[in-house]
Amino acid sequence: MKILIIGSGGREHAIGKKLLEDNMSISLYFYPGNGGTKIIGRNIDHIHSTLELGFFAKKNAIDLTIVGSEIFLLDGVVDIFQNFGLKILGPHYLAAKLEVDRIFAKYFMKKYGVRTPEYKVFSSYEKAINFIEKKNNTSLAIKANGLASGKGVLLSHSKNEAKKALKTIMIEKKFGNSGNKVIIEDFLKGKEVSIISIFNGKHIIPFLSAKDYKKIGENETGMNTGGMGSIAPNPYMTKDLWNDFKKNILNPTLVGLLSEKLTFFGFIYFGLIIFSNKIFLLEYNTRIGDPEAQSLFPLMDSNFLHIIHSSFLQEKVSILWKKKYSCCVVLSSKGYPGKYELGKVIKGFNNLIEPFYIAGADKKDKKWVTSSGRVLNVVGTGNSIEEARNKAYDKVKKIHFDNIYYRNDIGF
Ligand code: GLY
Repeated sequence: MKILIIGSGGREHAIGKKLLEDNMSISLYFYPGNGGTKIIGRNIDHIHSTLELGFFAKKNAIDLTIVGSEIFLLDGVVDIFQNFGLKILGPHYLAAKLEVDRIFAKYFMKKYGVRTPEYKVFSSYEKAINFIEKKNNTSLAIKANGLASGKGVLLSHSKNEAKKALKTIMIEKKFGNSGNKVIIEDFLKGKEVSIISIFNGKHIIPFLSAKDYKKIGENETGMNTGGMGSIAPNPYMTKDLWNDFKKNILNPTLVGLLSEKLTFFGFIYFGLIIFSNKIFLLEYNTRIGDPEAQSLFPLMDSNFLHIIHSSFLQEKVSILWKKKYSCCVVLSSKGYPGKYELGKVIKGFNNLIEPFYIAGADKKDKKWVTSSGRVLNVVGTGNSIEEARNKAYDKVKKIHFDNIYYRNDIGF
């Protein structure tokens, strides 16, 4: 069986490794892939468009494609592959709006009673300023439309900060045309939870909960990144909160997807916050999270390919998980998510024990060197979050490269 995984980060390496671990006889292809994925499969790096990728998949009789990274969803990769008669796991163009069009996602949540923070949408800067002047609550998240994963979001805690944020987004256009419309949302301070699920067009089957650490600095300070670490399961996700999630988020989402005919085979990622003992949905993504994937797959006991097959048959499968904890620490290049240097030799890599995933490193002249801001993801698993964390940081200490940067508080 030939499987193509679309994306180039640690998540795609983790998906590939999990599939191979459970199914020795598959052949993996990655587009575009990275230095780690080319060890376990073939990187397709001679192709320059999503359409060309569709031709490649057809010509090479790819049996299954999994969309890892969201950036290809805007190109309509799922629609293209389906038009070629190819099997693909991911949302079609319209359903991907749940991720890439924040205003659409908010309307959807409101329409179907999915619990989400209060918000207003503005396309006029003056009206938005007027709204801020009159608003009592000044803890706000001001979001440019059209970008997800924490990008294009500015937080404010005073009227002045809020006005500055509006100017940055709507006048200075820091996030480009996505700043033509903004969402002004009540900012809820609480513990974040990521729940990734598989949607089979009939059921939404959740994975274990996870927690992402989005900011570059310890104690969640500084710039947003693609995630500096993750743990699973999320220790804040109690049984009551799971019930609350199912009742107020998952079930109404399912009703909405079916009513709007937004059905697809793929993943739905719920970006959640616990506030006042209730769970609120901040955003949907329509793919697996990175680096959540890297802490979740080491705990998955089920054969992931069997889960995918059952999903295409619309069966309500149970996913089995190890009764353990896991902690993933992201090793990055100093300067990330801003500017950073590449080509640093990575030492200690050859003795690293599994699980670990490559996000941006390449083998050159028998040496591993950094090739991106996000370099390596090392994971520890254990019977407690402390054990998992200690194992992850023991591995971190074995890796050295110039300008290495990581957070010391993942899992604390
Ligand atoms: N970890 C956040 C994301 O994948 O969007």
